[in-house]
Amino acid sequence: MDTDRPSLHLDRAEARSVAGDLVALPCFQDDLRAPAIAAVDAALDGALLRLAEEEGFAGKKEQTLLLHTLSKLGASRVLLFGLGPRKDLSLPDLRHYAARAVRAGVRAGGKSVAVALPADECGPLAVQLAAEGALLGRYRYDRYLTGERAKPDKIESVRLLVHPEAPSNGSLEKAIDRGRAIALGAMAARDLVNAPASEVTPDFLADYARAIAARSGGKVECKVLGRKECAELGMNLFLAVAAGSECEPRFIHLSYKPAGATRRFVVIGKGVTFDSGGLSLKPAASMEDMKIDMAGGAVALTTAEVVAKLGSPFEVHAICAATENMPSGKAYRPGDVFTGMGGKSVEVLNTDAEGRLTLADALAYAIKLSPAEVVDLATLTGACMVALGPHIAGVMSNDDAFAQRWLQAAGTVGEDMWRLPLPERLREAIKSEIADMKNIGDRWGGALTAGLFLKEFVGEVPWVHVDLAAPASMDKEYGAYTKGGSGFALATLVEYLCPRA
Ligand code: BES
Ligand code: MN
Ligand code: ZN
Repeated sequence: MDTDRPSLHLDRAEARSVAGDLVALPCFQDDLRAPAIAAVDAALDGALLRLAEEEGFAGKKEQTLLLHTLSKLGASRVLLFGLGPRKDLSLPDLRHYAARAVRAGVRAGGKSVAVALPADECGPLAVQLAAEGALLGRYRYDRYLTGERAKPDKIESVRLLVHPEAPSNGSLEKAIDRGRAIALGAMAARDLVNAPASEVTPDFLADYARAIAARSGGKVECKVLGRKECAELGMNLFLAVAAGSECEPRFIHLSYKPAGATRRFVVIGKGVTFDSGGLSLKPAASMEDMKIDMAGGAVALTTAEVVAKLGSPFEVHAICAATENMPSGKAYRPGDVFTGMGGKSVEVLNTDAEGRLTLADALAYAIKLSPAEVVDLATLTGACMVALGPHIAGVMSNDDAFAQRWLQAAGTVGEDMWRLPLPERLREAIKSEIADMKNIGDRWGGALTAGLFLKEFVGEVPWVHVDLAAPASMDKEYGAYTKGGSGFALATLVEYLCPRA
């Protein structure tokens, strides 16, 4: 995926007057008489509304209508896109709309696409979300394609059309830049998730993090700890997971410390570059997709780059304890006991519950930084997918106010997250006979016992745990999401860490 293309601009123009290969027009349900649509329809001698009538297009959510203009309009195609009832519009729908408009342009083999925003939804957030969608609509992971399928699309420019009288104080241009930074970050995270585990090893992630620091112009620092340094810090839980792999573990720490920062924030991402299950080996079908098990880590690292680029006023640390989870003669065993950096002993009863072990040491390291808040992002449990389905992340927290702020940010940018409890009563499930705790619970409440396990390592620090086992990788294309790696949670983190001026 090359990221220099397309150029993305704001245009204070009307849909009927723009040139290009495709212009997309939003349409609320049963609102085909809206002025912008009427103007295009008039230029087409009424063909647009006639076709809408014939095809039963009424502006229902995600309904589309594509029309060739046969040179009667500046643009050679018009895409009418249904947004559903006006009262139900949520701004993040505009991200999906813009992505689908650009994708229609790609499919048409076009070079330039214009995406009109609804006349009364041209504020900075609307523009940012549409900008994200416009770029994400072109995303695909093509690194290993050859021949015909390797050919890139032809899109060179995307314009977002806003009302000619939209504010010209620069706020919308800023929103475009913010949307672009978020989209590029999400695409980078998607690439890391979609790439095979033979390529994205712990070393690869460490090099990736170093590259973020190197191109940040001194804004981001990178520290990478190897096996020896981790051992010195007592990270025996992380190292236990790493023991079976030929790959050296890499504990990655990016930091962004703007002058005068008022709050310190840590983002931890699970960085298991491949999860075979270890000696508690996964069945083949469950292992197929386990290259995605570093999705949280990918988002943590790319978030550090984006928040530095956007100039967050907060100090932000991104941590990724990167390792493979493999079986071998050196692998850790069910029944082994280890004491990690947090000082608590853990009996490992299932080597496939490895994520929480790596995170336990990452959390112990994080709280030594005395942060105001910690978030961890982890493809942690299949149980969370069973609970919330294939698209929604589970959120667990030891701090109601923080959890509310976090969910609010997620809602603003349209990343679906749902709070789950951390019931005290279930703590019993992770009690061990011979150690402080064990790394698995009983059959029920698997997402919660994982959360309760992590909670033991955060002390009093306000903490949010995001189990993104489901949305880290999408089962199919949907709006701005493509099948595979999603970059999920990056938009929420940026929303949380970079206040819109
Ligand atoms: N990486 C998996 C969780 C996962 C499953 C992520 C499916 C994405 C899709 C995690 O390490 C794991 O194996 N969890 C086990 C925990 C169990 C052994 C307690 C699980 O969910 O089965
Ligand atoms: Mn596992
Ligand atoms: Zn895992």
